Amino acid sequence: MFDSKLALSTPTLNTLYTACTRAARGLVRDFGEVEHLQVSRKGPGDFVSKADLKSEQTIIDVLQKATPTYSLLVEEAGAFEGREPEYRWIVDPLDGTTNFINAIPHFAISIGLEHKGVMIAGMVYDPVKDEMFYAEKGKGAFLNEKRLRISAKDSFDDAVIGVTFPRHDDKGEFDFYKTLQGVEASTAAVRRMGSAVLDLCYVAAGRYECYWSQALSPWDMAAGSLIVQEAGGVVTDLKGKDGFMETAHILAGSEKMHQTLLNLIK
Ligand code: IPD
Ligand code: CA
Ligand code: CA
Repeated sequence: MFDSKLALSTPTLNTLYTACTRAARGLVRDFGEVEHLQVSRKGPGDFVSKADLKSEQTIIDVLQKATPTYSLLVEEAGAFEGREPEYRWIVDPLDGTTNFINAIPHFAISIGLEHKGVMIAGMVYDPVKDEMFYAEKGKGAFLNEKRLRISAKDSFDDAVIGVTFPRHDDKGEFDFYKTLQGVEASTAAVRRMGSAVLDLCYVAAGRYECYWSQALSPWDMAAGSLIVQEAGGVVTDLKGKDGFMETAHILAGSEKMHQTLLNLIK
């Protein structure tokens, strides 16, 4: 498991590192179990929700010990108001649950820190690939010890685009499948990998030129959005505006590709 050093050492990143690696230890052990349970008739569903809750509790314990006055927004346990509510941790203890349940090794832990509504730090850890993505506002984005930069490709024809499919009951204002058709016809490939937090990190790492989704929660976007911005990318909602954490619509990419995809969505 993760043993290389972070390129940056700050109190916040050290706390994030402890929370991510401690929770990852449990998840990796449980993932090994899932690989056995996966073939059983009942499947690993209940077991996975326990793994998810264990990861969450481990993270809460680390964060509350390090910063007892901060607020928390945690996917399963909900919201806790601290004595310093302007600071808020936003946590997804297991992103890519369906992958995890089906023994597909593509999932992550995501933790972001917000100050007065602005993301100031974030870490996303994929323990199977041992990839730690992280950023602090104004200090750049990193994957393990390597600095991240957004893709420099300038032809949309060559672009690889990550996407989250909307839920079946999403009757929102954007026609997802129409956009998907347009994107498939005009790019190199579309990828739907099943972990929104890793999709955002893949944009930051230049693996995708863009990513878009119209159905996410704050914990899916908190850490990853800052990592994209710190790698030099642009993150907006699907109208090109700032409030993606509220609207649940997000579009992330290099400046040029972001604009091209935005035009297609409109
Ligand atoms: C989900 C994943 C998935 C996305 C869903 C999310 P979860 O998070 O990020 O890729 O399509 O919208 O809810 O449930 O695995 O934490
Ligand atoms: Ca999630
Ligand atoms: Ca989750």
